[in-house]
This record gives sequence, structure tokens and C-alpha cells, in this order.
Amino acid sequence: MSSSENESDWSDVEEEEKDSEHLKALCLFSEAQFQSIEDCFGHMKDKYDFDLKAFIRKLKIDFYNYVKFINYVRKEKPDPSEVKKMVSTSLFEKDCYLQPVVVDDLLLQFDVDELHENNVEISTNGFHLEDKLAVTERRAQLAEESLERTILDLEKCRKELKKQLLGAAEEMVTHYNETNEGYFASYAHHGIHEEMLKDKVRTESYRDFIVKNPKVFKDAIVLDVGCGTSILSMLAAKSGAKKVIGIDNSDVAHQAMDIVRENKLDDIITIMKGKAEDINMPSKVDVIISEWMGYFLLFESMLDTVLFCRDNLLNPNGRIYPDKCNIQLSAMADDEYYESKVKFGRMSMGSKCLQ
Ligand SMILES: C[S@@+](CC[C@H](N)C(=O)[O-])C[C@H]1O[C@@H](n2cnc3c(N)ncnc32)[C@H](O)[C@@H]1O
Repeated sequence: MSSSENESDWSDVEEEEKDSEHLKALCLFSEAQFQSIEDCFGHMKDKYDFDLKAFIRKLKIDFYNYVKFINYVRKEKPDPSEVKKMVSTSLFEKDCYLQPVVVDDLLLQFDVDELHENNVEISTNGFHLEDKLAVTERRAQLAEESLERTILDLEKCRKELKKQLLGAAEEMVTHYNETNEGYFASYAHHGIHEEMLKDKVRTESYRDFIVKNPKVFKDAIVLDVGCGTSILSMLAAKSGAKKVIGIDNSDVAHQAMDIVRENKLDDIITIMKGKAEDINMPSKVDVIISEWMGYFLLFESMLDTVLFCRDNLLNPNGRIYPDKCNIQLSAMADDEYYESKVKFGRMSMGSKCLQ
């Protein structure tokens, strides 16, 4: 573009501005004229309670329909109250209203698109704000309903989970009690104790240690964890213990009470029936003795009980016996056993039977 072209462009703009300065904005419902569109809009709002901007927004009027609307009102001269009642553009949709009624109508220069772009503008008495408010309220209501449903669902889940957890916990307690009951019942019969007492290596090892170490037991308070027939309690009493408490959760405890009495050691030994973990001791003890070993040393699972007693019932400088043990392993091969168990299990028929 040349500089002369530029200059002529600018002069065109200036002339247009001068022209529009002479134009007047004519009211839609009277002969009143105004210097600016805004003044004219303000007049219609004050005098006829007609907010043209809000009306444009409400009916979503675009540029063409705006031109048609202005010309329609100027041509047909409807009452302001009728215009305000309009809910659609149907009355001024005809193309004939594109034809200006007032020559150089300043109102036709109003930028409708700009109004829509700025529709975040808050109109206090227009429909735009009310529409937005209604939509927002509806959304809030839907969100509240959805929240209520979610809370109900969560409550249902919580109840179901609680039911399932309680059920599982109950099952575990029942299983634990049944397992424990079975275990202690197996020690209630004298047969098993007879077998243990007859195990010479076992019984004599304990006897030798206790009887040959009176300095450990002299005047000591001794706890015999899982006393059974009370054999270790009686050995401890013989070795000089001041007080011995023997505890066993199996019914053999009742026989132990008789045995202690018959051996006239009831002034030293007290037998209690119950779980060592639940025992209520007036004071801590100096020595803990226990025969807790099972097959493969740990099979009885009684070591935990003894360690519990050590941690909770033993004086800080107290002693626990036995205090050492070891497991020895040796490899062996048994072809016959391997054939009958492992190989059989690997055959599909066999594995199905085993399942
Ligand atoms: C291997 S026997 C030893 C019995 C006896 N001390 C002996 O040497 O002949 C283990 C004993 O500990 C008892 N026992 C196991 N766990 C116990 C616990 N938690 N509380 C009380 N007694 C338990 C059993 O009932 C059983 O009579």
C-alpha cells in the first residue's frame, strides 16, 4: 500500500467519524434522539423498562436479526410491553426488515457480536444473569443428588465390608479356639505325659541340670511354663526354690495339683490352670523353666509362649532354662518313598487323586 493510499484511507475514516458525530440515536418507542447509542439504550431502559442489551442476550440475537429487529420495531411500532414479552425472533424474521426504516440509523451501528463476546458481563436486571443462575442452580441440585447417592453407596459398602470382616474375624477366632482346644486336649490325658516322663534322655537331662545346679534355684522364685504333671516344678522345689509357680492350660493341671500335694510340696509349689500369656503374677520371677520342644524342635509352637513369659514375667537379671538349643539337619535319600509319593504325584492321574 502506498503512502498516498494510506493517507486517503485515514481521511475516509475521519470523515466517517465526523458523519457519525452528526447522526442521532433515535429511541425505538418515541421521537427522542440522543448523541450516543448508550444514551439511547439508557433512555429506553429508564423510560420503558426495556433493556435492549439484555433482550439481545435473552433471545441470542445475532447481527442480522438485530438489524431486522430495529427495523421491525421502527416499521410496525409495537408497544414496548409487547416487545418485552417476546421469547423468540419469529416476529421479525422476514428479510424485508433488513431494509432500514430510518435513514442513517445510528442504532444499526451497535456491535451485537461484541455484546455476545462479553457475555460474562453481569446484568443485574437482565435475563442473562437469571438464565445463568438457573443453570447453576440446576447443576448444584444435580451435584447434591449425586453426592447423596454416593454417600448412600458408601454406607452400603461400609456395612457390607464390616459384615464380611466380622465374619472373617469370627471364623479366625473359631478356628484359633478349635485349634487351641485340640492342642490342650491332647495334653489332658495322662498317656502323653507318661510317654514324656518315660523319655529317659529328656527327663533325666532336665533332672540332672536342675538338681546339679542348686545355686540357680536356691531361694529363687521359679515359673514352670507348661508344667504338665509338674515334674520340673517338683525338681526345682527339691533344688531349693523358695516359690514355684507351675502353669498349664491343659486339664493335666488338676492332676498336677494332686501330685504336688501327695509329694507334700504344696507349701512351695502353686499350680495354676490357664494360659501362660494370661497369667496374673504378683511379682516377676527369678527363673523360668520350660520343656517346650516339639518334633523338629519348633513343631509345638510353644517357644512363643516361653519368650512372652521371658519378656513380661522375668526379672531383668533373671535366668531362663534351657537357654540354648540347636537343630541339626542331615540329607538322606529314600527311593521307595520318593517313588511312592513324588513320582505318583507328578502323574496327572495321581495329582488329580491327591487334589
Ligand atoms: C511338652 S509338655 C511338657 C510338660 C512338662 N513340663 C514335662 O516336662 O513333662 C508342654 C506342656 O505345656 C502346656 N502348654 C503349652 N502351651 C501353653 C500355654 N500357652 N499356656 C499354658 N500351658 C501351655 C501343654 O498343655 C503341655 O502340658
